[in-house]
Amino acid sequence: MRAMARPDLADDLPEGTEKVQKVQAMFDAIAPRYDVVNRLMTFRMDVGWRRRTVRALALPPGSQVLDLACGTGDLCRELQSSGLRPIGMDLSFGMLAAARTDAPLAQADALALPVPDGSVAGVTCGFALRNLRALEPFFAELARVVRPGGRIGLLEVAEPSNRLLRWGHGVYFGKVVPVIGGLLSDPAAYRYLPRSVAYLPEPGRMLGMLADAGFTAVDRKLLSTGIAQLITATRSVTPAAEGPEAPGAPS
Ligand SMILES: C[S@@+](CC[C@H](N)C(=O)[O-])C[C@H]1O[C@@H](n2cnc3c(N)ncnc32)[C@H](O)[C@@H]1O
Repeated sequence: MRAMARPDLADDLPEGTEKVQKVQAMFDAIAPRYDVVNRLMTFRMDVGWRRRTVRALALPPGSQVLDLACGTGDLCRELQSSGLRPIGMDLSFGMLAAARTDAPLAQADALALPVPDGSVAGVTCGFALRNLRALEPFFAELARVVRPGGRIGLLEVAEPSNRLLRWGHGVYFGKVVPVIGGLLSDPAAYRYLPRSVAYLPEPGRMLGMLADAGFTAVDRKLLSTGIAQLITATRSVTPAAEGPEAPGAPS
């Protein structure tokens, strides 16, 4: 990914196929303790953030929603509690095997979904943007599978803009989280995960990518003093590639 918000953290972070393989192996390894470390790390705030993500979709009950990079199924459970019909997909068999949900699950790469065009009403994706090989092909895949007028909710970590909060957040995620994660799970993984925030592009660029992919009403909300972010958008009724410039379009 280019145009990172935190190039200072980016040294030695893998890219391309190497990144995909390392991320998959890492989540396979940390899957059994993932939930407990997550709740501890975020003081359970992650539960409220997922609830807010599902609410922000504002889809009618019964709508089919893909939860991409579903991990252990937290968002799938939240979607079901709201009367929606989730299908969870993740690259890591380890995470899928540790999932606690009765939603249908499938092993799939979020950049090449085994799903027909325009076939779902919505997509959620929690804490995975920085784990993907690249964001532009991911957003293009979202635009392909979500029907016109459908909604997406992308939840991700963020860094507070307030300098003092950012310093405290940096100490906590840079020093404390690797210790907690190392004691309870895999030390290398919990050293890598806080650094992986460096993959995220500047917010404005990320929102621009979504608009270019064919989404409107693109919005970003900061959660809990800016330590998490929720990006929402609506699939345009007019596909990006068939906008006013498309051949045959009225001028
Ligand atoms: C930090 S976990 C988040 C899990 C879950 N969404 C949650 O809210 O707890 C990131 C997940 O992204 C998955 N992942 C990473 N790259 C992926 C890809 N290319 N396609 C699908 N899932 C992927 C990982 O296997 C992992 O389960």
